[in-house]
Amino acid sequence: MATILDGKLTSAKVKEEVAAKIAAACADGRTPPCLAVVIVGDNPASKVYVANKKKACEAVGIRSLSYELPGETSQEELLALVDRLNADAAVNGILVQLPLPGHIDEQTVIERISPAKDVDAFHPSNVGRIMLGLDGFAPCTPAGIMRLLAEYGISAAGKNCVVVGRSNIVGKPMALLLLKANGTVSVCHSKTADLASHTKQADILVVAIGRAKFITADMVADGAVIVDVGMNRVDGKLCGDVDFEPCAQKASYITPVPGGVGPMTIAMLMENTFRAWENAQR
Ligand code: GUN
Repeated sequence: MATILDGKLTSAKVKEEVAAKIAAACADGRTPPCLAVVIVGDNPASKVYVANKKKACEAVGIRSLSYELPGETSQEELLALVDRLNADAAVNGILVQLPLPGHIDEQTVIERISPAKDVDAFHPSNVGRIMLGLDGFAPCTPAGIMRLLAEYGISAAGKNCVVVGRSNIVGKPMALLLLKANGTVSVCHSKTADLASHTKQADILVVAIGRAKFITADMVADGAVIVDVGMNRVDGKLCGDVDFEPCAQKASYITPVPGGVGPMTIAMLMENTFRAWENAQR
């Protein structure tokens, strides 16, 4: 039976570290970091994520501003809000929750956010820095996964790392961080032929495809480290992209859903917001 990679516990530790850094940095009376969170429409999953992000802000001493816009908000109105937040020196981080309604072009909105306030690290100039292995904002979910692995002493160096999913939010930046950590990285996706032949080679398998219980035990190697980024709702219950119980029998380490990757994403967002604030102090 695999050891559980406990994202709840590890994220609490990261958040405590951020809280301590904020308390120390603001001991002289400086205004603490401020994160603006924007949500458009009423996607139920997005609402839960945003509520959790705001709760985390409160816990670590980050001020959060909430903008809950109706689903009919035009792209121009949203861009005007981003412009206002970009110009507001009191705002250190801007997070526009994705997905956006279909009539709004996500990339246009992402590119409008000032790279210095882009705590998601979605702006092309921040993505470029990640690609080049330069310092900058960490992409929250992949960075949270790297932090979780490190916490359990798991190194990617020299390992076969297989990422299933090639999204801009998870799969692609995940591959880059594993590569930076000296892993040998493959990226699989919906057009990959014979997916199982790849996943079975993985020492570290990261799955982010958004299909419930898609990775079955016959697709994983004995002793693999399995990281499940999936957040699927099946019959009202949250479940990952990995068929947990049978895969946990074969794996050496595995993340649960919930309580694995999700809390780590939020912890890294707190860290990025603190970093944006620190940069703004200079
Ligand atoms: N939607 C799903 N994950 C994320 C995330 O990390 N950031 C934002 N802004 N939207 C998301």
